[in-house]
Amino acid sequence: TERELLERFEETVGKDRRIEPRDWMPEGYRATLIRQIAQHAHSEIIGMQPEGEWITRAPSLRRKAILFAKVQDEAGHGLYLYSAAETLGADRDDLTERLISGRQKYSSIFNYPTLSFADVGVIGWLVDGAAICNQVPLCRTSYGPYGRAMVRICKEESFHQRQGYELLMTMMGGTPAQREMVQDAVNRWWWPSLMMFGPPDADSPNTARSMAWKIKRHTNDELRQRFVDMTVPQAERLGVTLPDPGLRWNAGRGHYDFGEPDWAELKRVISGDGPCNAERIARRRAAHEEGAWVREAAAAYAAKRAAGGRA
Ligand code: ACO
Repeated sequence: TERELLERFEETVGKDRRIEPRDWMPEGYRATLIRQIAQHAHSEIIGMQPEGEWITRAPSLRRKAILFAKVQDEAGHGLYLYSAAETLGADRDDLTERLISGRQKYSSIFNYPTLSFADVGVIGWLVDGAAICNQVPLCRTSYGPYGRAMVRICKEESFHQRQGYELLMTMMGGTPAQREMVQDAVNRWWWPSLMMFGPPDADSPNTARSMAWKIKRHTNDELRQRFVDMTVPQAERLGVTLPDPGLRWNAGRGHYDFGEPDWAELKRVISGDGPCNAERIARRRAAHEEGAWVREAAAAYAAKRAAGGRA
């Protein structure tokens, strides 16, 4: 009976065992996972754009090769995640359609422009650093295919974070103009990076439910604090100033205190009104439309093979 199935599901989650695609699961659990995994996949794919813009303008062959590899990794992450969503019964074409029609979200962070090459380094350091903070606990999420995808994704994200930090270290050892570029990029990306973790807990409608199901392992504010604590010493080592006058060590709490991000800005960006939202979606839509012939050819090829014809 449904009651027994629910009990078994809750027991599995309670014992920190994995839910797998063929297991019975409450519809709310399935819907929550599809929502979160699809948003995550969309973020990886849209996230190729801000940095992709710098591939042709990278200052050396070495930097170009690294950036190329990194942007390609993001495509791979998106594809793993769409596959994980498919194990829940989602249809990939439908998810893409929802993205380009603005009905499904992707991370707010990718709606900000990349104005200089230092932005590539800062995205690696801060944005990928925030992504790691958020995603390492997701390796232990209750849904098997999502957790397993996260293991590999996190390894690659760690590499991305280090390449960003190494790039910034190099620039900080350069000319005063290069150091200024780094500081300017840090000033622009710091607050949006804190917003990646989502609204404050008191204003996060999904956290309690997702924590009970062990889809999320920590709240938005817990992860944001962990990110700040991890990043401040790195900023000191790098020699940049984080643009928050409220940032200071609190010995009593054993954590850094920090200022309040502009939550109204986060709401605006999530609802489609950030600096680059329209541009990002238009680019994604155009790429999808230009790729239609590839999908048609692949489908025709598969149909011919299935009918026993020579391909
Ligand atoms: N950007 C866009 N939307 C956001 C953001 C953000 N930074 N933060 C929260 N939201 C959305 C949520 O998706 C939710 O909208 P919905 O209910 O319509 O789906 C709403 O704001 C309320 O937020 P929460 O209740 O806190 O939602 P949730 O429990 O899903 O937590 C979070 C949000 C932390 C982003 C979670 O979904 C998550 O951990 N996702 C996986 C990680 C991820 O997607 N990372 C992508 C960027 S990292 C990268 O690719 C480099």
